Amino acid sequence: MKKFRFIIAIAAALTAAVSCGQGKDARKVLVLYYSQSANTKALAEEFAERLGADIEEVLPVERYAGAYQDVINRSSRERQEGVLPEVKPLKADIASYDLIFVGYPIWFGTYALPMASALESIDLNGKKVVPFCTFGSGGLEASAKDLQDKFPKAEVMPGYGVRAARMDAISAEVDRFLKSGGYIEGEAAVLEAFPEAHPVSEDESAIFDAAVGDYPMIQAKPAAVASRTVPGGTEYLFTALSQPIPGSAASSLPQMKVYVLAENGKAPVFTRVVR
Ligand SMILES: Cc1cc2nc3c(=O)[nH]c(=O)nc-3n(C[C@H](O)[C@H](O)[C@H](O)COP(=O)(O)O)c2cc1C
Repeated sequence: MKKFRFIIAIAAALTAAVSCGQGKDARKVLVLYYSQSANTKALAEEFAERLGADIEEVLPVERYAGAYQDVINRSSRERQEGVLPEVKPLKADIASYDLIFVGYPIWFGTYALPMASALESIDLNGKKVVPFCTFGSGGLEASAKDLQDKFPKAEVMPGYGVRAARMDAISAEVDRFLKSGGYIEGEAAVLEAFPEAHPVSEDESAIFDAAVGDYPMIQAKPAAVASRTVPGGTEYLFTALSQPIPGSAASSLPQMKVYVLAENGKAPVFTRVVR
């Protein structure tokens, strides 16, 4: 009997050692994503690798092929007609996961249509959900809200979003995001909060112009700004006012927040826009 108890104690110790080796969170984790032109795929793979998670791609039955404009044309038509594209059945048993990272490109301000289709076939209520996305200029906040509205009983956590033009930043940023969220072991720099905003100076206005350039979706003038120190540089949070587009009615969303990163020795870039 004594020997038997000893064996059980060793088995328990071994089990504990193995589950510790899986990282901080020994829960079952799934990375579920859609990607049309491979940006979100790269991000999803980064997440899955660091988390040691299972990964599954949402695949439309009829792929969105062709040039960018072809994809815009088809998806615009589908949106107008209110049809969601058919996607292949998912293989993952969603019920067996506690933590699900949901990744997508932003289309028309929210998650892409094939992800909307996939979400029709699963239930994320009761799950912890971490949204992540890639975009031209922004859309993380709006898409996370849409996810929460779709699954009111899910715990939608703060997400991660990155511009398609900044894919080279994902390795460092995903690492920081996962550590600061407690999803993987390790220390992440704690960022100070932005202080109160002040009217933009000429220098700050020049930083805004350098970061935004002539990006077509940001026709805006910076009005106020706050800045904080981040690892390797300074981050600015501009409040900008949309400029009226000649010949069109005044915009119904005149104000936007534009985040700009000025890393030491590099030209400033905008990292996301929140409308
Ligand atoms: C149909 C379509 C609609 C898009 N709409 C937006 C948008 O509303 N906002 C935005 O910032 N980017 C938008 N984009 C840009 C994509 O979000 C961006 O290129 C993304 O990185 C593509 O990811 P993928 O390579 O995983 O498909 C759109 C792209 C397409 C094809």
